[in-house]
Amino acid sequence: MYRISELAEQVGLSRTTLLYYEKLGLIEGKRLSNGYRIYSEYDIQRLRLIQQLHAGGLTLNECKACLNARIDREVLLNRLSQLDDEIAEKQKARCLLSALLGEKGHKEWHETIDRVAPDAHLDWLIKQGFNEKEALRLKWLSKNMNEHERYMADFLRVYEALDRWGPGSDAETLKALSKIPFTPKKILEVGCGNGVATFVLAEQSEAQITAVDNDAPALARLVERAKEVGVDHKVMTSCASMMDLPFKAASFDVIWSEGSAYIMGVTKALNEWKTLLEDGGVLVFSDLVWLTNSPSEEVAAYWEKAYPEMATVDERVKQSETEGYEVVGSFTLNEEAWTAYFEPLQARVNSIKDKMIGSPALKDIEEELAICHQYPDEFGYQMFVLRRV
Ligand SMILES: C[S@@+](CC[C@H](N)C(=O)[O-])C[C@H]1O[C@@H](n2cnc3c(N)ncnc32)[C@H](O)[C@@H]1O
Repeated sequence: MYRISELAEQVGLSRTTLLYYEKLGLIEGKRLSNGYRIYSEYDIQRLRLIQQLHAGGLTLNECKACLNARIDREVLLNRLSQLDDEIAEKQKARCLLSALLGEKGHKEWHETIDRVAPDAHLDWLIKQGFNEKEALRLKWLSKNMNEHERYMADFLRVYEALDRWGPGSDAETLKALSKIPFTPKKILEVGCGNGVATFVLAEQSEAQITAVDNDAPALARLVERAKEVGVDHKVMTSCASMMDLPFKAASFDVIWSEGSAYIMGVTKALNEWKTLLEDGGVLVFSDLVWLTNSPSEEVAAYWEKAYPEMATVDERVKQSETEGYEVVGSFTLNEEAWTAYFEPLQARVNSIKDKMIGSPALKDIEEELAICHQYPDEFGYQMFVLRRV
């Protein structure tokens, strides 16, 4: 037999707790003639069972009911499902902590956090020591803090061999240019890449073009090519971030962005780039859009992760109007514009895949190609021509 202090020591609970348990009827000490209570081995075992049930999340009254009567299945099933939820939450928290320690990549974690808090995600990546360019690449491409460099090396190995880094064609660039209701004189091109659109604009307009990208090698290729085709006097380059463009307000009558506004977020781009336009100036941009309101499950799940901000044309039009633009033109890029991007990309993938076995970057590129081939009617690339009002 045990006194209450001995019982407390045996089960690791305080005397006060045991008295409370006694009050609830969980244990029942025998009172001696001298007023002391004593407890049996059976009380110790009951307490150990109660401790385990309590740790499983049952209330003390539920523990008592479990020990004294038939188990209430409903209560236990409810508690089990709560426990599963708690474990899943804890698992997520664990994933985050291990990602912070660099134990694993946690693509899914980056995708989730990017969906719910895209700006905070980018800021956080920058705080982890990535510069803005790499943080953006991590957010959009590698989604892996530990394998980022290797991923990007593979990614660039594929893309460096290509001129065009997104859907588009000379004809579609020209079509958008023809919708501008004045003769452009000063064009700012954002995210120009190797300059596929830059050369069309330089050859087919009277404008001086400032071509901006944050990728210095791409700009160097653009400068080289501009000399070759004899438009170097019309093009100047600036290696800068689209999120912090180094130009004075109202410096341009046209801003041009093919397949790049999504990188900082279309709504933000609409808002921030507007100040660089003269009154009545025009912003031309292309973006991936939904062409259906009820996409197939697979394609919806894919873009939900790859481009959560993807919108329908109507939604983009509304956003543009809210941000102070009037839509002067909008059209879906034709099939040739996709082919102009996909065919060289697919050919490059085919030629290099044997040398890149097991590369996550190559796998992602192939997955995107497959989705685009499989669901050509559910999403597309839309060109928007907007006038600042
Ligand atoms: C999908 S590619 C499109 C390139 C080109 N417009 C084309 O159609 O081939 C996006 C471009 O944006 C550039 N880019 C990415 N982040 C940027 C940033 N923060 N500031 C400026 N350019 C950026 C990339 O280097 C790349 O050239």
